[in-house]
Amino acid sequence: MIFDNHNRPITYLRLAVTDRCNLRCFYCMPEEGIKYLPKHQLLTYEEMERLVRVLARLGVSKIRITGGEPFVRNGLMDFLWRLKATEGVEELHITTNGVLTEPLVPELVRIGIGSVNLSIDTLDRERFRQITRRDELPAVRGTLDALLENRVPVKLNAVVMEGKNIEDLPLLAELTRDHPVEVRFIEEMPFNGEGSHYPVLNWTHRRILQELQTLYPGLKRQQDSPFATATTYQIPGYQGTIGIIAAFTRTFCGTCNRIRLTAQGTLKTCLYDNGVLDVRALLRSGATDADLTAAFLKAFAHRPKNGFEAEQERGPVTESMSTIGG
Ligand code: 5AD
Ligand code: SF4
Repeated sequence: MIFDNHNRPITYLRLAVTDRCNLRCFYCMPEEGIKYLPKHQLLTYEEMERLVRVLARLGVSKIRITGGEPFVRNGLMDFLWRLKATEGVEELHITTNGVLTEPLVPELVRIGIGSVNLSIDTLDRERFRQITRRDELPAVRGTLDALLENRVPVKLNAVVMEGKNIEDLPLLAELTRDHPVEVRFIEEMPFNGEGSHYPVLNWTHRRILQELQTLYPGLKRQQDSPFATATTYQIPGYQGTIGIIAAFTRTFCGTCNRIRLTAQGTLKTCLYDNGVLDVRALLRSGATDADLTAAFLKAFAHRPKNGFEAEQERGPVTESMSTIGG
């Protein structure tokens, strides 16, 4: 296993397979969308497989596929089969908006996907349309039902947004009554393609917790898994759990085991850094596996301590979550 310069193991890769998306969530993109990368600037599946092989040899054992929306890229299912069969890859997960996912759920089960994170900020069709600028809630609900029917472990991601979905907190929390899901409330981050953000973030993890405690006075703290970003709770008697993710406040950097590859093959060792290595250029200039390994090790030896240090080194964040991969 490889440890970084702050003695954190690097075991988890978040791999973005596309920057494209079929929704336009306002916290992620402007209405007109972002300028998508031309195809030749995306890593090919073969390039991604090679990078995963190299990283798996260094101790990366968990992979999460992200985007954009992963399922808008052709050939994804075949790629997932090959990734799952890669030596050293023990866990394969995926994050999706669920618009195209429902018919693919049985095959995801056959592949042996570990869990699916479904982005769902509201259970109200009109609010969904306002937030994502598309009328796709029925398709997303269909995916959720299919995942539950097929007993796929599910986490539901909801970004908490002033004036947009606060009334959804109890509605989403109630999903944990009869379903073994983890509903995760996420602080909004400034990754919306424009860089704008609130002067102060109203809905911090503390405020989200206060709101939940007001709604559910019996809310009980749960044990978190070792490298978790979410702080988890449970409503007594309910099957599922509730997580709160301090994505903006950044309380969990001390145990961060994650690295990211963007769709264009940029390595990020922190969500808040500006990309620390152009892996695509290295690959396409004929780097050997040993060259790639050396470049990765060098980057891991220079990781920022936390998201604040990373942000300080780069200046303000402006890109869209869809190009970063979340
Ligand atoms: N702030 C917080 N979360 C975000 N996501 C996308 N953009 C933002 C943002 N600006 C979330 C999505 C998805 C996850 C990968 O990241 O809701 O569930
Ligand atoms: Fe698409 Fe996810 Fe961005 Fe929404 S948050 S536009 S679903 S990539």
